[in-house]
Amino acid sequence: MVKLFLFRLGSLLLLFILLIRETFFRQNEEDFTEDDFKRRDVDRLSGYNWKSIRNEQVQEQRKQHLIDYCHKRDAKELLPPHTTNNEIPAHYFRNIIVSDSHRLLYCYIPKVACSNWKRVLMVMHGDAADPWNIKTPDVHNRSLGYFRYLNQYSPEEIVYRLRTYYKFLFVRHPFERLVSAYRNKFIDSYNLTLFKEMYGRYIIRKYRQNPDKRSLRTGEGVNFSEFAEFLYNSDPEFMDWHWKQYDMLCHPCLIYYDFIGHFENLYEEADQLLNILQVSDKVKFPKNKTSSYKRPTKFLAKEYFNSLSKEAHDKLYEKYKHDFELFGYSMQDFL
Ligand SMILES: *[C@@H]1O[C@H](CO)[C@@H](O)[C@H](O)[C@H]1NC(C)=O
Ligand SMILES: *[C@@H]1O[C@H](CO)[C@@H](O)[C@H](O)[C@H]1NC(C)=O
Ligand SMILES: *[C@@H]1O[C@H](CO)[C@@H](O)[C@H](O)[C@H]1NC(C)=O
Ligand SMILES: *[C@@H]1O[C@H](CO)[C@@H](O)[C@H](O)[C@H]1NC(C)=O
Repeated sequence: MVKLFLFRLGSLLLLFILLIRETFFRQNEEDFTEDDFKRRDVDRLSGYNWKSIRNEQVQEQRKQHLIDYCHKRDAKELLPPHTTNNEIPAHYFRNIIVSDSHRLLYCYIPKVACSNWKRVLMVMHGDAADPWNIKTPDVHNRSLGYFRYLNQYSPEEIVYRLRTYYKFLFVRHPFERLVSAYRNKFIDSYNLTLFKEMYGRYIIRKYRQNPDKRSLRTGEGVNFSEFAEFLYNSDPEFMDWHWKQYDMLCHPCLIYYDFIGHFENLYEEADQLLNILQVSDKVKFPKNKTSSYKRPTKFLAKEYFNSLSKEAHDKLYEKYKHDFELFGYSMQDFL
């Protein structure tokens, strides 16, 4: 299994990252708002690309919001429970894909367009000419060796990359992601036997009263409230990646991300990011020709959550609280 080795340099790293955050925090206070710009000489500014200014501001606001929330958290909470000397374990960087050629780090989150971002990186690396030609299983198959992950580097190399590379991630409404993961892994049409065997059988055994023999054997037919109960009783450390908290996958209070994308506005923000990375002439973000879902996940998600009890709602929110707060999402839509 995963062998955890702890950094000697860990506490240094933590201190360093917190320092970067502080510096950033100060700079931001002097930012202009769009109104400030407008109040100035309009003629002189007419050449400005307002959309790009607004996009930059959205980024600044998201980062500021995240930093504010991080400051309120107990620093101990950001490290694993049994760490001494503030050491950061290497597996904290397991979800971060490294692009040395583009000096880029991407923390990928399953169910948040991560297959398509991996495709984009493969095109950037020259591993493929067209993102659409890459099969989804290949994108995620670590043994094909398309990607290197930050935990595979030495502590010094990790620190260097965290300090100097451009870092990004994409998030979405935490409850929508849960519904997306549930449908993807447990609904019949997707028919992923592996997940039903791994989790379905366990969930049915543990959370269903009087389960029948067949469902105990196949793990099929897990309903959303059973899944929810399973989630809020899970230990975050050992959760599956498809529903593990963003906070636990990408550690945004330890690592300063330069770009925080929202899935809700995916295509526009993907274009914005590819422009920032100056690769938009080489690669386009793949856009779904037809969505495989008949209705947007947003509406489906509300339906699923409406079927839960108030208690289940609250417990799930509590479990994913940091993800909501860090990235400015609210549970209001789902009440
Ligand atoms: C991953 O790639 C390896 C090497 O080509 C192959 O043997 C294996 O079956 C692949 N795994 C999956 C899940 O596709
Ligand atoms: C799902 O997989 C099982 C086992 O492989 C198979 O028996 C069943 O027919 C499949 N169901 C669908 C809807 O594809
Ligand atoms: C889902 O499962 C729970 C627990 O097994 C059960 O009490 C509930 O009635 C089920 N809900 C639906 C809609 O089938
Ligand atoms: C694109 O389609 C896949 C399924 O084919 C879905 O999982 C994904 O959420 C879709 N992406 C967007 C942005 O709609």
